[in-house]
Amino acid sequence: MSTAQTVSAYQAPNRPGNPVQYQDMTREEACRVSSADKAMISVDRLQVAYPETPVLKGVSLKVKAGEFVFLQGKSGSGKSTFLKILYRDIEDFSGDVMIDGRSIKEMPRYMTRRIVGTIFQSFELLDRKTALENVMLAGEVIGRQKAEIHAEALLLLDKVGLKGKEHRFPHQLSGGEQQRVAIARALLNRPKILLADEPTGNLDPENAINILALLKEINTQDGITMLIVTHSEELVRAFPARTIVIKDGVILESESVTLLSR
Ligand SMILES: Nc1ncnc2c1ncn2[C@@H]1O[C@H](COP(=O)(O)OP(=O)(O)O)[C@@H](O)[C@H]1O
Ligand SMILES: [Mg+2]
Repeated sequence: MSTAQTVSAYQAPNRPGNPVQYQDMTREEACRVSSADKAMISVDRLQVAYPETPVLKGVSLKVKAGEFVFLQGKSGSGKSTFLKILYRDIEDFSGDVMIDGRSIKEMPRYMTRRIVGTIFQSFELLDRKTALENVMLAGEVIGRQKAEIHAEALLLLDKVGLKGKEHRFPHQLSGGEQQRVAIARALLNRPKILLADEPTGNLDPENAINILALLKEINTQDGITMLIVTHSEELVRAFPARTIVIKDGVILESESVTLLSR
């Protein structure tokens, strides 16, 4: 896909307060604007505990607008818990969590979920809905106009490589294709942030690489900030990027990987 193509509606996330007319810009220009030095995610001294289990013990982290970041850590270290705080699945925490410059404590949950899209290891598609219907549903639940979301869902399914498979049900799609539907669904409401919790955990190595390549392409073209949980060292090596690690309830940065990406 050419980066010189003009940015269309779904490729240009609405950025409230930003007067720039993205429609009139190329993707490259839109990307440069979006990757200004602003923190899209800013977490300060975050503490989260389940009953009798402290999990995050003072996590501080900034992710810049347009950044692509891997999140690693042993099983049970709190990676999913961290993402759940950001997409408001867990509301009980102490410390400060800001997304897009605002504290999530002062933001209604629906607004957070407009800003933050999510994908998961298990895809979480509805079995009885087609690929197109699964993607459109994300727009229907927030009351967007059907004609608009129909057109955008078709464009997104094309973008993720599923042209011609729009009317298939999940069981008629491979795992990699199902994850592509989930990515299209996550993008429909033009999030500024995409959180991915082990998005390739159920995929073979070749599909895993292809899904990561798609995410990287979307990050580069559309400037969507991405935080990706993965266990796979192979993926981290294949897509050198800033890598943070949760260990013993706090964040460590992996210097070697960070240096590689510079
Ligand atoms: N709903 C819950 N109730 C109690 N403990 C939980 C709950 N969810 C997760 N935990 C515990 O919190 C820790 C972190 O879990 P999680 O964030 O899922 O880790 P990760 O995603 O890194 O594997 C684990 O010890 C897990 O058992
Ligand atoms: Mg997890």
